[in-house]
Amino acid sequence: MRQKIVAGNWKMNKNLEEAKQLIKGIKKGIKNTESDARVVIAPSFVNLNSAIKRSKKSKIEVAAQNMHQAKEGAFTGEVSASMLTNLGVNIVILGHSERREYFNEANDLLAKKVDAALKNNLEVVFCFGEQLEDRKSENHFKVVETQLKEGLFHLKKESFSKIILAYEPVWAIGTGETASPEQAQEMHAFIRGIMEKQYGTEVANAISILYGGSVKPANAKEIFSKPDVDGGLIGGAALKTEDFVAIINAI
Ligand code: PGA
Repeated sequence: MRQKIVAGNWKMNKNLEEAKQLIKGIKKGIKNTESDARVVIAPSFVNLNSAIKRSKKSKIEVAAQNMHQAKEGAFTGEVSASMLTNLGVNIVILGHSERREYFNEANDLLAKKVDAALKNNLEVVFCFGEQLEDRKSENHFKVVETQLKEGLFHLKKESFSKIILAYEPVWAIGTGETASPEQAQEMHAFIRGIMEKQYGTEVANAISILYGGSVKPANAKEIFSKPDVDGGLIGGAALKTEDFVAIINAI
């Protein structure tokens, strides 16, 4: 079922104590919220255990920011899907543009990670989006279509109940520059159209498509008001209690 979701990607920020404080603040801030959106936070691996404990008895769900595709083995420094589920994590973010850019994660690798996540019953927030040059050269639709095709289109229709899409134009991430609500809607409608062509109307209508890239309290309401925008993946503004709560309340 199509759901509204506000997810905070904390990236490599917040130590244990800071994470505790932020969760405490969010819990307090959303206690009386009227928003029916799912609220997700993605702290770093080392803070997942504590975040899960502290999010119990609240609507906050805890996601991981990445995982390795192998079941287990000699992969120093990596974390497997089953390690995440064993902790109580039920969502993983895959394909974030920072993973693609700084850690060379390409579509074929991401397809394997998606498979490993689904096999372990994790929901996947699958990120994709064009670079500035792609938009300038009007290649943005093509780039997005290829990312979806190569990362996800090997999946069967049934698997999409566990997939959340996150369109994040790279030029809008952490730059303060946001896609206009119209640009976001245009791309989200395009994405839903591709999903419909590939998997049919039911899957296309049921999938949640989040927007990410400099979402803040000041622009969240307008972006979320667009019919094909089902929520947001929030970076910088998810690190401040008031901002994140304001964004949740904007949906
Ligand atoms: P930002 O990051 O909100 O800081 O632009 C979004 C993201 O990287 O998911």
